[in-house]
Amino acid sequence: MNTAQPIKPIRKAVFPVAGLGTRFLPATKAIPKEMLPIVDRPLIQYAVDEAREAGIEQLIFVTGRGKTAIVEHFDTAFELEATMEGRGKSLDVLEPTRIKPGNLVTVRQQVPMGLGHAIWCARAVIGNEPFAIFLPDELMIGKKGCMKQMVDAYNQVGGNLISVLEVPREDVSSYGVIAPGNKPEGFNEALTEVKGLVEKPKVEDAPSNLIVSGRYILQPEVIDILSTQEKGAGGEIQLTDAMAKLIGSQAFHAVTFEGNRYDCGSKTGFVEATLALALERPDMADEVRAMAERLLGSSGHKSA
Ligand code: UTP
Repeated sequence: MNTAQPIKPIRKAVFPVAGLGTRFLPATKAIPKEMLPIVDRPLIQYAVDEAREAGIEQLIFVTGRGKTAIVEHFDTAFELEATMEGRGKSLDVLEPTRIKPGNLVTVRQQVPMGLGHAIWCARAVIGNEPFAIFLPDELMIGKKGCMKQMVDAYNQVGGNLISVLEVPREDVSSYGVIAPGNKPEGFNEALTEVKGLVEKPKVEDAPSNLIVSGRYILQPEVIDILSTQEKGAGGEIQLTDAMAKLIGSQAFHAVTFEGNRYDCGSKTGFVEATLALALERPDMADEVRAMAERLLGSSGHKSA
């Protein structure tokens, strides 16, 4: 284990956004999945906000064909801003889209060959330092953001960390699953040692019902492993397989996320997130609640 080595800060985050988003077609034919809005912010904005809360400075987007809207979203929209100002409208609403010059880097994944391959495509920008990964279609909402919770734990134990969640056992086959070890004594309560990782196991082979959710802090050595990685489940270069190879040579922990996770890569998860976040918004909660009750009441009436 390398816990004796100095703990380097997490300054960089990779956002793999080059996937095809096939589960949302035709909506995602010309618009990136990561630009679909939950209430009034695109998915990518939630992930970037979470990264900034955790103190991350440099944002690395792994993009592909048809994904330029994501980069545009974080650019200065001169005409829009000039017009809004001319009409006396506040520009505060655009504040979250402003990135310090030089802090947004894009690299291209020419062919979507899997998450592991997308991360490998960012290797030159990652360099030789630990980095975070955000899957923007997994929306993590907590009082303290998921990555902030992870960075706090990382500052204690260093090494590699993944965020995990408990799911019903019959659902494990859609996810990466951990083989949990001990809870390290005297450290953050949410930490569990990771002894193994399996991507999309059969229910009977799954080592637990703790699934890997879309946030990671990894040491740069994972890139060397990805460089020689064979294709895994689904014919894709799997990040889980590369991470599994780090176990044993480097510290590897899971952090149980305190908060709610919405799988916005699936249609029902997307609708759930929209409703849940709208019900939390002071400016619209009452109206949305009344609307939901009305809809549920009327659908109950119809089916009765
Ligand atoms: P997903 O598998 O959920 O996204 O990958 P997808 O492939 O876009 O969606 P479906 O299954 O076809 O509907 C999780 C994240 O990893 C990125 C995706 O953009 C998404 O943010 N990804 C996935 C890449 O950047 N490259 C890939 O080769 C695969």
